[in-house]
Amino acid sequence: MRPLVVAVNGVTGRMGRTRHLHGALLPLQRSGIRSAGRRRELDLVLVGRRAAAVSQLAREHGVRRWSTDLDAVLGDPEVDVYFDAQRSGLRSGAVTAAIKARKHLYCEKPLALDGAAALELARDAEQAQIRTGMVQDKLFTPGFRALRSVLAAGALGRILDVRGDFGYWVSADAAGRPQRPSWNYRRADGGDFIADLFSHWYYLLAMVGTPLAVSALLATHVPRRHDESGRPYDVDVEDLGHVLVRLHGGVTGVISTSWIQRPPTPFTLTLHGTRATAMATPDACTLSTATLPAPGATPVPRQQPVPMPPQEDEFLSQWRQFLEHVAGDTPFPWTFCYAARAALFCDAIRNSGRRGTWCDVPEDTGDVR
Ligand SMILES: NC(=O)c1ccc[n+]([C@@H]2O[C@H](COP(=O)([O-])OP(=O)(O)OC[C@H]3O[C@@H](n4cnc5c(N)ncnc54)[C@H](O)[C@@H]3O)[C@@H](O)[C@H]2O)c1
Repeated sequence: MRPLVVAVNGVTGRMGRTRHLHGALLPLQRSGIRSAGRRRELDLVLVGRRAAAVSQLAREHGVRRWSTDLDAVLGDPEVDVYFDAQRSGLRSGAVTAAIKARKHLYCEKPLALDGAAALELARDAEQAQIRTGMVQDKLFTPGFRALRSVLAAGALGRILDVRGDFGYWVSADAAGRPQRPSWNYRRADGGDFIADLFSHWYYLLAMVGTPLAVSALLATHVPRRHDESGRPYDVDVEDLGHVLVRLHGGVTGVISTSWIQRPPTPFTLTLHGTRATAMATPDACTLSTATLPAPGATPVPRQQPVPMPPQEDEFLSQWRQFLEHVAGDTPFPWTFCYAARAALFCDAIRNSGRRGTWCDVPEDTGDVR
C-alpha cells in the first residue's frame, strides 16, 4: 500500500507547528494509521509562503517534501489530503482550489467567516465527492471524552440547562509580545472573535442539542492593541460575548467567553440534568448529585470525579480518526456541512448582537447534508 500523502499549509503558524505538526502528524508518521486492518504509512508535504521558514522546519523534522507553490502541490496526483491552518481569512480561497483539485480536506476552524461562504464550500466539496473534516479538538480532550461517556450512559437524566465559560486576559500593551496573533483583532485580516470561539461552542453545545436561537450581548472592551512589533492598531472585532441560547429539546443555556478575564478559564461546560450535574473542562469531569434534604435543610452536595479515559493528545486522536476515515470507511461526523451549521450559528450571534433581539439559527442547509 502506498503512503497516504498529506499537504500541510500554515505549518509555520502557532497551531500548524505546535498542535498539528509536532503534536499529531509527526507522531502519526512514526506510528502509521490503520487501513483495512493493515498499517499504512503517512507522508507529509509542508507548504508555506516563506521558503526559508518552511525548508528549515522540514529539515528539523526530516520531512523530505516541502513547497511554497500551493498550486503545484494541489496539482500533484500523489497528494491525497489538503490540510489548512493558515490565517482564517485565507482558508476559503485555498480550500476552493483544493476542492477543484479533488483533494480530501481537513481544516482548522472556522471553515469560512460567514454561513453563506461555509455552505458554498460544503456544497462544492459534496459535489466533488471528497471527504471533509473540521478540527473539533476540545471534544477529544480527556475531560470532554469523559463527559461524552457520561451523556451516553444517561447518567444526568434529562438535560435542563447548560453553562459555558472560557477566556483569559490577552495583553494589549506595547510591553511584551501579544499571546495571540494581532490579525485576530483586525477584521480585514480575517480576525473574528465570534467565528474563533463560537465554532468551538457549537460542537460542545451540540453534544446536548442543536442550537435553535440566540440572544447575544457583544462588546469590544479593549479598542486599541499593540502588534508583534509593538506598533499600536485599532481593534474592530469583539473581545467579549455573553450569549443566551435555546437548544433542541427545550434545553436553555448561557455561554460567556472573552479575552478580558482573569484568572484564565479553560473551556468549561456545566450540564444540569434531572438526575445529576456534570462539569467538564479539557482535563477533568465531575458529577454532582445532591442528597434530598429534610424539609428546611440545605441540600448536601456530593461530587465525584468521572474516571478519565486513556490520555492521548486531542489533535492526534482526531487526526487519526479523520485519516482512517479517508483511508477506509470508518465514520467521521464533523464534516464541512457540520462546519457550515456552526457558521450559521455564528451568523445568528452576530445578528443578535447587532440588532439586540433574539435570532433563530437556521436549521435548513438546503441540498447540503
Ligand atoms: N483549534 C483551536 O483551538 C485553535 C486555536 C487557535 C487558532 N486556531 C485556528 O488556527 C488557524 C491559525 O491560527 P494561528 O493562531 O496558528 O495563527 P498564526 O498567525 O500563528 O499562523 C498563521 C499561519 O498562516 C500563514 N499565512 C499565510 N499567509 C499569510 C499572510 N498573508 N499573512 C500572515 N500569515 C499568513 C502564516 O505563515 C502561518 O503559518 C486560524 O484559522 C485559527 O482560527 C484554532
